[in-house]
Amino acid sequence: MRAVDIIQKKRDKEILTKEEINFLLEEYLEGNTPDYQMSSFLMAVYFNGMTTEELKYFTEKMIYSGDTIDFPGTHKFLVDKHSTGGVGDKTTIALAPIFGALGMGTAKLSGKGLGHTGGTIDKFESIEGFKFSRTKEELIKLVNETGTGIMGYSDKIVPLDKKLYSLRDVTATVPSIPLIASSIMGKKLAVHADAIILDVKVGSGAFMKNIDEARELAETMYELGKAFDRNIVCFLTNMDQPLGEAVGNSLEMIEAIETLKGNGPEDFTDLIYTLASQALVMKGDTADLESGKQKVRKVIENGQALDMLRKFIKGSGGNPSVCDDYSLLPKAKEKDVFRATKDGYIEHLNAELIGRAAMMLGAGRATKDDIIDHSVGIIMCSKVGDKLEKGAAILEIFHNGNLRDEVLETLAEAVVISEEKIDKQEIILEIIG
Ligand code: URA
Repeated sequence: MRAVDIIQKKRDKEILTKEEINFLLEEYLEGNTPDYQMSSFLMAVYFNGMTTEELKYFTEKMIYSGDTIDFPGTHKFLVDKHSTGGVGDKTTIALAPIFGALGMGTAKLSGKGLGHTGGTIDKFESIEGFKFSRTKEELIKLVNETGTGIMGYSDKIVPLDKKLYSLRDVTATVPSIPLIASSIMGKKLAVHADAIILDVKVGSGAFMKNIDEARELAETMYELGKAFDRNIVCFLTNMDQPLGEAVGNSLEMIEAIETLKGNGPEDFTDLIYTLASQALVMKGDTADLESGKQKVRKVIENGQALDMLRKFIKGSGGNPSVCDDYSLLPKAKEKDVFRATKDGYIEHLNAELIGRAAMMLGAGRATKDDIIDHSVGIIMCSKVGDKLEKGAAILEIFHNGNLRDEVLETLAEAVVISEEKIDKQEIILEIIG
């Protein structure tokens, strides 16, 4: 077998066998197939896609390219909730403790932020001393002790994805639905949670800018999950404006904690209640989303969810008092306010541009080796559909003396005010599964 023949078949839209896919990926992982041949194969996939069978074999090879993780002795229903990434997405911080309070657990790998999108790892690392599990053994221990197991991506788990993603990044082959689906699902399927809930973001701040692309990605990942006999549901949710009100690491940590105290913004609270309730439905504890939401309300009102977050922070080396004393989190030195230039309704709060502005302040990374500033960020005082008068505050900008013209120009482009009445945006767009 030769790599060149496999590339040629894909180029000519012929269907590859399991043996051919295995050969190509094994040889690549071992360093016998060079990057230039793999790049060529990826570009052929970008143009010609993959059949369902091809994608299954490709993903299977991803999963078993490294260690897989299961959780012996954990008598908990473990959930892996995964978002495809966005701006202000602090969902895991609030959701994992709710799962814990409802008698379930979290088992997942999480990433760092890159570009305009944030990462769960960075948000938790706003807390001094907080350390994520680095090994499979630490992850299993944390799941057993605190109900929440979150681990950063490691070289030992799905190493093929890391190698392929780096190559895709520099060969313009990231935005390919089968390649994204196998990359995400390879990492989900390597961890044996009992339920997978995928939150596929749609809109300006997301990978998928429109609902049709997002639906296609969600359906592809759903089918892959089913092909591996997993309990899976996919949500399509709005990422046209940032989620909630806070963008930036410490600020998002505070917003997630406030949500666990019952004081969260409407869209974020709605998302959290729905996803937690979905997990209860998948576990078989509740018949539908509405009755599940009553149970979620209860663990927020009685403080059990917040207690689970304290437990996870303590178990990870951080000080759980941050939940009560926000002065323990890094705080930016300066605050400026971005105001409405005319009366009207907010038509757009472009999530990508707001994420980019936050990144320029230091909240995110332009390249993967950048050091981030956990204290800075942006608070949305208004959301799409809100009515305001000229001079009203739209955004609060928390910075450390680096509010350059470029940041203000980016924000000016992100905010659009209309004289016409604008409807508020729904957070949950569709559910698949
Ligand atoms: N996230 C991933 O993990 N992989 C992709 O290919 C795209 C987004």
